[in-house]
Amino acid sequence: MSLSIIILAAGQGTRMRSQLPKVLHTLAGRPLLEHVYQTAASLNNARIVVVYGHGGSRVPQALAHLDAHWVEQAEQLGTGHAVAQALPLISDDDQVLILYGDVPLTSPVTLERLVHTAEASGFALLTARLDDPSGYGRIVRDPAGDIIRIVEEKDADENERELHEVNTGMMVLRANLLKRWIAALDNHNRQGEYYLTDVIAMAVQDGIRVDSIQSENCYEIIGINDRVQLAEAERRYQRLRAEEYMLAGMTIVDPDRFDVRGELQTGMDVVVDINVIFEGQVKLGNNVRIGANCLLRDVEIADDVELLPNCIVDQASIGQSCRIGPFARIRPDTKLAEHVHIGNFVEVKKSDIGSGSKVNHLSYIGDTEIGHNSNIGAGTITCNYDGANKFRTVIEDDVFIGSDTQLVAPVRVARGATIGAGTTVTRDVESDSLTISRADQRSIKNWKRPLKK
Ligand code: UD1
Ligand code: CA
Repeated sequence: MSLSIIILAAGQGTRMRSQLPKVLHTLAGRPLLEHVYQTAASLNNARIVVVYGHGGSRVPQALAHLDAHWVEQAEQLGTGHAVAQALPLISDDDQVLILYGDVPLTSPVTLERLVHTAEASGFALLTARLDDPSGYGRIVRDPAGDIIRIVEEKDADENERELHEVNTGMMVLRANLLKRWIAALDNHNRQGEYYLTDVIAMAVQDGIRVDSIQSENCYEIIGINDRVQLAEAERRYQRLRAEEYMLAGMTIVDPDRFDVRGELQTGMDVVVDINVIFEGQVKLGNNVRIGANCLLRDVEIADDVELLPNCIVDQASIGQSCRIGPFARIRPDTKLAEHVHIGNFVEVKKSDIGSGSKVNHLSYIGDTEIGHNSNIGAGTITCNYDGANKFRTVIEDDVFIGSDTQLVAPVRVARGATIGAGTTVTRDVESDSLTISRADQRSIKNWKRPLKK
């Protein structure tokens, strides 16, 4: 029997107070719906159908990279009506799992258990016991403890509202039965909607037992309705990630100020101080230390690297034992070999820096290749741009560049050369030479400063 998954994502999400459809709001840098999709896709070979509606084609456009079938629900007439839109894509002997695009933290293990339970009994529902069940549909059971129906809060009487077992909305059942019951739904209820939840009573009437399981963790079933819940889910998600990394050997100084928005691979004995953000694909070697307030996006960092506080490292590769920062900005296409030092207020873009070289203070290095053991003095600027085109600077091995030098590209400084402080280098420099361009110093004796009139 193959599995089809329907993800309901057509609702408006009024309480977000947003022009963006709710399921496109992001958790850990990815749309809510993408989290649900990823969980669904981790179940074996499932066919995934997403029902979209509010916001028109914005949702399928934003998530066009997902391998999903998109079905439009032009008018949002209820969860049962939403499911009905997907059913023509699903064959009768499939098992169907129904998920919600705004419930992002369900674990694959829970869904696998739900599918498994339905394999045995035919129909399985994920329910939860909540201290505060308000807002949810309630599970009504008979005296023997069997589920007989779900009542929406708005339709519930006083006794039913006292029930603490709620409907999470997630369920697994056979497509042929689902099709039969969905076709028979009506909208005679307080909200005038076609409720998916009414299929439970129909199943019972047809003599089919509705089995139920509960999730291991209560956060797995929470839906996002407003931005307060979104922020809570974000912290919950980040906390779970932080715990994974701590157990894998990373020291996180404060797991409540730790954010991964992508994939992070870590070595052993990595230490991460507060307010560090990892975006995209980040790979850290062993003994990497990351100071407070750093942002790392799509980077690979080798063993024993130290990032001092307040650095941004974006699409770069950092070799072993480099030391960077504080307040450094490493921009895309930068490659640092081993033992490179990049100091404070240094910007490096699209450059390769060889082992043991140092750029320690207040510099801009762009479109540049630097060899081994070269020292770039404070305030050195590679002038790589003439307003129209970019040009490359090459600095070979063992070069010493004095402070406040401008290197007007294209230009090459050969091995072992020395550049005097304050020089503007406009032509290639020979190896082992001293180059200096500097107006002669003169002094005017007994200089009187002007006085204020
Ligand atoms: C629904 C359940 C309720 C359950 C709760 C769990 C029904 C009738 N009620 O209530 O028992 O406790 O979820 O969170 O099913 N959607 C569509 N098209 C529509 C309406 C909704 O795609 O026409 C989607 C929404 O985008 C959302 C999901 O279905 O992802 C749930 O809809 P929502 O209106 O939030 O249902 P609840 O009132 O929360
Ligand atoms: Ca909801």
